[in-house]
Amino acid sequence: MISEKAPAKINLSLDVLNKRSDGFHELEMVMTTIDLADRIDLCETAHSAIHVASSSGVLPSDERNLAYLAAARLKERYGISQGVSIYIQKKIPIAAGLAGGSSDAAATLRGLNRLWHLGLTLDELAVIGAEIGSDVPFCLYGGTALARGRGEKLQQLPPPPPCWVVLAKPPISVSTKEVFQTLQVEDIRDHPRTPLMVQALREQNYEAMCKFSCNVLESVTMAQHPEVKAYKNCLLRFGVDMALMSGSGPTVFALLNQDTRVNRVVNALRGFCNDVYAVRMLREGVQK
Ligand code: C5P
Repeated sequence: MISEKAPAKINLSLDVLNKRSDGFHELEMVMTTIDLADRIDLCETAHSAIHVASSSGVLPSDERNLAYLAAARLKERYGISQGVSIYIQKKIPIAAGLAGGSSDAAATLRGLNRLWHLGLTLDELAVIGAEIGSDVPFCLYGGTALARGRGEKLQQLPPPPPCWVVLAKPPISVSTKEVFQTLQVEDIRDHPRTPLMVQALREQNYEAMCKFSCNVLESVTMAQHPEVKAYKNCLLRFGVDMALMSGSGPTVFALLNQDTRVNRVVNALRGFCNDVYAVRMLREGVQK
């Protein structure tokens, strides 16, 4: 059996530049992986089918599951006759803006590359990953990166300065597709200053990283789900250094660099929210 860790990501910034003729949006995002992860176990089987099971009662076990899709694409592309049994130990909340499904697909690609002795590089796996979902290439490498295009054009960045990430997910699910469909690019008033976020990371400047965090999808999701704004305002009232929605939401995260304040914020959130996590950012991506 082979096991792979599948960490969640957060967006330190997310900008939408324009809508493309293929229906996707041209993005500019700074993303980083955090120490909240699913675990993917891959076992060889006697038959040729792909079998998916998980610790979550609600995950589909067919093509709607991105880990299944990853295995199916890899099998088809490289003419693999072997089957595989995939077990997903789910820790990342589902449809939360944390790339849980994409990271499961990325970990499945990395793991099957080993299990089936394919000898593919991460760059080669990323080409297949991009067909599965826009965040899959980033999740294959992990770490911290500037992502452009649909999200698949990646430039690695230094890890953020050490700090705590506190996450709170309101009890709703958000469809990324719907958020992008509702977004009117010409109505975006405040675009993130992405070069300044990149500079903050290069200079390991925590205050600047907090200051230049921005997500243009926040206003769209918050208009549809006012509880997301309420969660963000709560975090800010608790005295965190910054609070922002991740991806298309609904998870909101806060950054803090004083250990002593983390427990206070987590306990305050637990008073009204079941899905609360306090984790570290990951310093390293996947080793090539
Ligand atoms: O690539 P993925 O399947 O994760 O994207 C989900 C949906 O989000 C897409 O169907 C598309 O509607 C929207 N999207 C977009 N532009 C991107 C990424 C995603 O419009 N760059």
